[in-house]
Amino acid sequence: MRIPTVTVTDTPAGEVEADVVLVGVHEEGDGFALTPPARMIDEAMDGSLSRFLADVAFEPKPGRVRTVASDGAVRARLVAAVGLGPAGDISVDVLRRSAAGAARSARKQGRVSVALIDFGGDRRAGTQAVIEGALLGSYTFDDYRSEPDAPRTTELVIVGGDSGAAARGRVLSEAAVLARDLANTPAGELPPRELAARALDMAEEGLEAEIWDLARIREERLGGLLAVSAGSVEEPRLIRLTYRPDGPARGHVALVGKGITFDSGGLSIKTAEGMETMKTDMSGAAAVLAATRAIAMLKPDVVVTTVVPSTENMPGGGAVKPGDVFRARNGKSVEILNTDAEGRLVLADGLSLAAEHEPDAMIDVATLTGACVVALGPRYGGLFSNDDDLAARVEAAATAAGEPVWRMPLVREYRRMLDSEVADMKNIGDRHGGAITAGLFLSEFVADRPWAHLDIAGPARAERTDGWTVKGATGFATRTLVEMVDSFAAGTR
Ligand code: BES
Ligand code: ZN
Ligand code: ZN
Repeated sequence: MRIPTVTVTDTPAGEVEADVVLVGVHEEGDGFALTPPARMIDEAMDGSLSRFLADVAFEPKPGRVRTVASDGAVRARLVAAVGLGPAGDISVDVLRRSAAGAARSARKQGRVSVALIDFGGDRRAGTQAVIEGALLGSYTFDDYRSEPDAPRTTELVIVGGDSGAAARGRVLSEAAVLARDLANTPAGELPPRELAARALDMAEEGLEAEIWDLARIREERLGGLLAVSAGSVEEPRLIRLTYRPDGPARGHVALVGKGITFDSGGLSIKTAEGMETMKTDMSGAAAVLAATRAIAMLKPDVVVTTVVPSTENMPGGGAVKPGDVFRARNGKSVEILNTDAEGRLVLADGLSLAAEHEPDAMIDVATLTGACVVALGPRYGGLFSNDDDLAARVEAAATAAGEPVWRMPLVREYRRMLDSEVADMKNIGDRHGGAITAGLFLSEFVADRPWAHLDIAGPARAERTDGWTVKGATGFATRTLVEMVDSFAAGTR
């Protein structure tokens, strides 16, 4: 999707030239209370805005919108009253949600001015949240429609916003939009070689890129990636991006993303229904690649190494068979009993490669297990870590980004569920605790580095449009990763 330009102005809301001005309205008892920008507009309209809202019994829940014509009373053609919920409760999450609903309802208006509140206390966080909500909430993916949803908003003007935070909000949103576009792209259009080509494109500014083809992947003994790709006519790729700051670095973070461009399950084939959404099984890869691009734009003083093992998981004649054993990059042997547990096999090699760079922290992101969706539902990501400090840091970044995660335990006693009769381990555990055994499997490949694993099988997709998410790929974890790398740069513990 093309995203609107974002500018910031100190001009009062009523004087900003626009197709529509968005003003905030709070809940108060059974009625509503206008925020200062809304009051200013209402006064210019001789009270007709508040009379209209009273007539229609407007309930200002976050994201609800009612729009009226300004009849020339202000410089915007339309005035949209946007619910913000109770006045005391203006968190960045509420601002993001309200801005999302408002931007969706205004998406046919070219120039939109946003005057939801007078940014008080944390003007930076507020500005950023409003932009993220507006840009992500109005996202559409219409590359493949004959009649795209036009016209669309091309310009957002944030009244009273902080310009640094606005630029940052746009970079973060643009990254999440890129992650969504990649994940929404049909698998037939985005095999591993194409994902690698897109990674090369995005690396044009400020990143080093290296792509390994099949021959190199064999030479480098990436046994997990080779095993999964064996049943596909598409070649696998190993993508590596590196960001290096201009000055001295405060640390080194490695990001690893699951890049299964289509997961049929392989010979342990999925049901037709189970496969419907499996073009998005590279959402982890999309998140780490898009985050890396945003990092190259924001330039924190941290080295970032990003590794994406990418392949299809297909049941072709050469496919790996249940019972087959491979040797992973780090020398451990793995018996594959279910070819649908493929994400952990490619991540095994991705994590090994990342660990070889001896980073201070490693984070992998993966649509890894249905079990994690059973445990946490569709909105929360599962967070697993061998390091409490790193887990706390990732959790804080996720909370700030409005991408909630919940820490899950790596239960040592469950490691025996991965014991194999023939190899160092097998690739599936028992019936229960599947998200945990998947995490334990990955932990065998991190070489005791501080490591966190985000299982985003649930929140990588949204089944309905709600808040900053739109039905389809969400870009979940992209903004968390950027915030997290930045927290390393800031040295905030
Ligand atoms: N890509 C799937 C996980 C998934 C399921 C993501 C639903 C999004 C929505 C993964 O490769 C998979 O198939 N995992 C299996 C593991 C099992 C065979 C141990 C699963 O979760 O069923
Ligand atoms: Zn699978
Ligand atoms: Zn998968």
